[in-house]
Amino acid sequence: MKTVKFFPLCMLLLPFVSCTQVAVDKKEAAMDKKIENLLSRMTLEEKLGQMNQVSSYGNIEDISGLIKKGEVGSILNEVDPVRINALQRVAIEESRLGIPLLMARDVIHGFKTIFPIPLGQAASFDPQVAEAGARVAAIEASSVGIRWTFAPMIDVARDPRWGRIAEGCGEDTYLTSVMGAAMVRGFQGDSLNSPTSIAACPKHFVGYGAVEGGRDYNSTFIPERRLRNVYLPPFEMAAKAGAATFMTSFNDNDGVPSTGNKFILKDVLRGEWGFDGLVVTDWASANEMVGHGFATDSKEAAMKAVNAGVDMEMVSYTFVKELPALVWEGKVKEAVVDEAVRNILRVKYRLGLFDNPYTDEKKTDILYAPSHLEAARQAAVESAILLKNDREVLPLQPSVKSVAVVGPLANAPYEQMGTWVFDGDKSRVITPLNAIKNLVGDKVQIIYEPGLAFSRDKNTAGIAKAASAASRADVILAFVGEESILSGEAHCLADLNLQGAQSELIAALARTGKPVVMIVMAGRPLTIEKEAELASSVLYSFHPGTMGGPAIADLLWGISVPSGKTPMTFPRMTGQIPVYYAHNNTGRPATKNEVLLDDIAVEAGQTSLGCTSFYLDAGFEPLYPFGYGLSYTTFRYGNVRLSSKELRKDDVLTVTFDLENTGKYEGTEVAQLYVQDKVGSVTRPVKELKRFTRVTLKPGEKRSITFELPVSELAFWNIDMEKVVEPGDFALWVAPDSQSGEEIPFEVIE
Ligand code: BGC
Repeated sequence: MKTVKFFPLCMLLLPFVSCTQVAVDKKEAAMDKKIENLLSRMTLEEKLGQMNQVSSYGNIEDISGLIKKGEVGSILNEVDPVRINALQRVAIEESRLGIPLLMARDVIHGFKTIFPIPLGQAASFDPQVAEAGARVAAIEASSVGIRWTFAPMIDVARDPRWGRIAEGCGEDTYLTSVMGAAMVRGFQGDSLNSPTSIAACPKHFVGYGAVEGGRDYNSTFIPERRLRNVYLPPFEMAAKAGAATFMTSFNDNDGVPSTGNKFILKDVLRGEWGFDGLVVTDWASANEMVGHGFATDSKEAAMKAVNAGVDMEMVSYTFVKELPALVWEGKVKEAVVDEAVRNILRVKYRLGLFDNPYTDEKKTDILYAPSHLEAARQAAVESAILLKNDREVLPLQPSVKSVAVVGPLANAPYEQMGTWVFDGDKSRVITPLNAIKNLVGDKVQIIYEPGLAFSRDKNTAGIAKAASAASRADVILAFVGEESILSGEAHCLADLNLQGAQSELIAALARTGKPVVMIVMAGRPLTIEKEAELASSVLYSFHPGTMGGPAIADLLWGISVPSGKTPMTFPRMTGQIPVYYAHNNTGRPATKNEVLLDDIAVEAGQTSLGCTSFYLDAGFEPLYPFGYGLSYTTFRYGNVRLSSKELRKDDVLTVTFDLENTGKYEGTEVAQLYVQDKVGSVTRPVKELKRFTRVTLKPGEKRSITFELPVSELAFWNIDMEKVVEPGDFALWVAPDSQSGEEIPFEVIE
């Protein structure tokens, strides 16, 4: 008998097309067919229903009526698995077409197990921390039936007055891009249709981090070039990482609210990046275009949003109310509505909701799983930044027989979880006080005297008591910072000094003459110059989440060694803001503090000679630069070699250097590569982070490390608004932060 050997077509086409790709294409084609079939059977009202997202808050009866009529596509804020299944059952069994609902929730840095706030995670410079955090969040949230999170927040932000700085990855475009993409991978897992995957939603698209004055919801004025060079890249990277959805932002940029901005939603997101997922508005941001003065009424707002490329509206119901007339009048083409519905259904198909709409109501034992808590603890360890360590007070040695635990954040379980925690349970949080007791309680005397009840507490009555108790200890551990409600959405501050009487507390503790270790738990960089001067050591942990206590205790006693680096420049004074490392140069850059306020003679004559760009009262330097952080050990960088000092546009630049642990402890260093394009058709930043890596070395160990940087990554949007590498002189630095390292020149040639 003749045997016929059968090869799948894709094998014959190899190496041009992989079998996996062919399988994916087949699946997508089948999905498209199903979507077209469904779409052809939908009434306009049912289509608009898919475009409607409603908020639940437990009132499932009202919503059920709407679902039955096919008027709801997605629900947010329902987290009870029984109610989620009940709502889903109404959609599947009682609505005409049985289209499943997409259940959403803000799962920002954990569902139940709370990880450090995203800004803290960014301080780890470790994409694995971000990916693991998002994975745990996805596993926990999906176990109750949530399949869509409104994260990651990847708004580059350079103003810590803005409360939402806590939710993002800080000031840097590259760091935000890397961490954001890692979070997308973590939320979505290997495949969206795994029941433990949740759709990511990079937000807020776009420019929201640049709100004027750091005041939430404010306008932004970001010209296209800066938008493309600074604010768009993290979103492009998130789209490339496969993010299933995007959310528009509240701000109007140069007069155009994002929710009605065709340029960013259609031309860039879909046109240039090929995004085919769904775009949702932010909370009521379609209707808020009326408030902006961009639409006369909700009808015009709905028209502008949909025509600009929005697919789903969050909570303001203008689409369901206004689109029937708009379509009838021809102001919105039904084809536009169809496209929006396709985008929505595509995400539902990819999530596997049509095959698997329900959740296992009894699966809740996965919440706070030991491995989740361990990952959260590791994240909190890596997120902490050692900003100062004079006289090597840290790590605490066995000779330390007593510690005073002081300050309003030492035992504040709710506060240490940080902003955007709807579901975390404070009773599961381990505070530093409890963790210290667990770790060393039998060997070290622990004197707990908080001094202040909460971060804004102005009542100084307890300070003397705290200082007197602290004076009996070998070392004082002072936990200060911000309550969680002082950062996050709509929680902006015009003054970034420590709130309440915390400064007085630190001053009183310093007066005891005992070494003060100041641990700051906050949602943003605070202006702590004065207090940092009084403290021997400063550990900045941001809001570290459920396992913040054990992580900090381990760091204090040297069981772990700090490795975090500042994801933002820390200002000395609020008035210096915006202060960020990747600024353009002025024609008169300051390199030293010329004449400061108190050096100026009375009636000094005005002169423009020698004038440079700085503040009379704050100088030109920040308190701590971007990328900065100490360790218990020390590292030496040396012997930086470049593959070539003359490169062409399609070359890959290889930068190799030696990194040596020159101290006493095993430690991890975040080595950073910065580049400057010396001269451009438009002025270029003085430095830009291009690569970073975490390297763990034993005492005395030396390793050769390599960064590879394709020259194509030196491209930027130039004077002709084209993304190009402009040949010419460049410089690079391999360094422990954005302000040190030796400048090494290289050249890009035609
Ligand atoms: C926020 C979003 C959030 C949404 C849903 C809005 O107010 O700006 O970031 O995802 O609410 O809760």
